[in-house]
Amino acid sequence: MQHRTLGTTGPRVSALGLGAMGMSALYGDADRAESIATLHAALDAGVTLIDTGDFYGMGHNELLINEALRTAPAAARERALTSVKFGALRTVEGGFTGVDGSPEAVKNFAAYSLQRLGTDHIDIYRLARLDPKVPVEETVGAIAELVKAGHVRHVGLSEVNAETIRRAAAVTPIADLQIEYSLISRGIEADILPTVRELGIGVTAYGVLSRGLISGHWSRDRKLAANDFRGMSPRFSGDNLNRNLDLVDALRAVAEAKGVTVAQTAIAWVLSRGEDIVPLIGARRRDRLTEALGALEVTLEPADLAAIEAAIPPGAAAGDRYPTDQMAHLDSER
Ligand SMILES: NC(=O)c1ccc[n+]([C@@H]2O[C@H](COP(=O)([O-])OP(=O)(O)OC[C@H]3O[C@@H](n4cnc5c(N)ncnc54)[C@H](OP(=O)(O)O)[C@@H]3O)[C@@H](O)[C@H]2O)c1
Repeated sequence: MQHRTLGTTGPRVSALGLGAMGMSALYGDADRAESIATLHAALDAGVTLIDTGDFYGMGHNELLINEALRTAPAAARERALTSVKFGALRTVEGGFTGVDGSPEAVKNFAAYSLQRLGTDHIDIYRLARLDPKVPVEETVGAIAELVKAGHVRHVGLSEVNAETIRRAAAVTPIADLQIEYSLISRGIEADILPTVRELGIGVTAYGVLSRGLISGHWSRDRKLAANDFRGMSPRFSGDNLNRNLDLVDALRAVAEAKGVTVAQTAIAWVLSRGEDIVPLIGARRRDRLTEALGALEVTLEPADLAAIEAAIPPGAAAGDRYPTDQMAHLDSER
């Protein structure tokens, strides 16, 4: 396994992390036994970074990770690093009603996560979405207190803009910013990426396959469960879907010429954007994981990069990356 270091103060992690969200929430039902087998296969392959959120299935995802770690070989368990998001407020029905980043909430959320994960510390802890009612200084200050007490190792951020990153970094060292970054979501390149680089903060990139849209496995007629986020995503809707899949067809031609898969090309492209970026892969099946890990063996030469960017030029995506109401929660888009 190749490794990368998250920022100047963060941990050294596998060059690809595994995001466990889809094993509990947002992408329709998942197979529990296959989810555990996928987590084990990832650990076995040397993946050390496991990303979750306490609100993914209301604790279900953390309990799943707990089970996978408990039943993994001791050496793999000891190498594993947990990255946890918190702050989302939910309803019994599964709705989202806001965010709480207040210092009391930070410590409350952490206490529950530690219990569910069955660990004595969380490696990287971050607020999922900025709480507009609470200055970011107070939220990261509370996480820094958890670091001091030994319950958390590093402070992270999620989906915040350059100004918020600067304010947070002035309070405490920040290991990484977690944010969407892919061939069809390049918004961070203007301000956010230069800012984290200036401040020595790493990036854990999600949506590298745009939630499956640019994986090469998506089809125009795929039926989605009612609880699948992608059914509400503008990029998967109507004519936007056709236009985005046309981009994937162009990428497929580049991938085939190189003898690799579309997903491997998309992941390798993000890996090629800098040693400070660690893609989080949302595999929830072993076959998808194996494909994703294959991206680590793909070397993109300058001619490959030019062909990839010609297939999917910056700004080519049709549709926003979130529905309108959820775009409003993204500090990173302000
Ligand atoms: N900070 C944030 O705001 C935020 C937001 C979202 C996610 N995340 C984190 O990022 C992680 C990654 O999630 P994502 O949705 O962004 O991941 P992604 O890798 O862009 O998409 C994952 C989906 O792509 C499909 N897929 C097809 N081929 C694949 C392959 N070879 N490898 C992996 N997936 C493949 C799968 O869908 P099917 O299984 O349906 O085929 C899978 O569920 C999440 O688990 C979560 O931890 C963070």
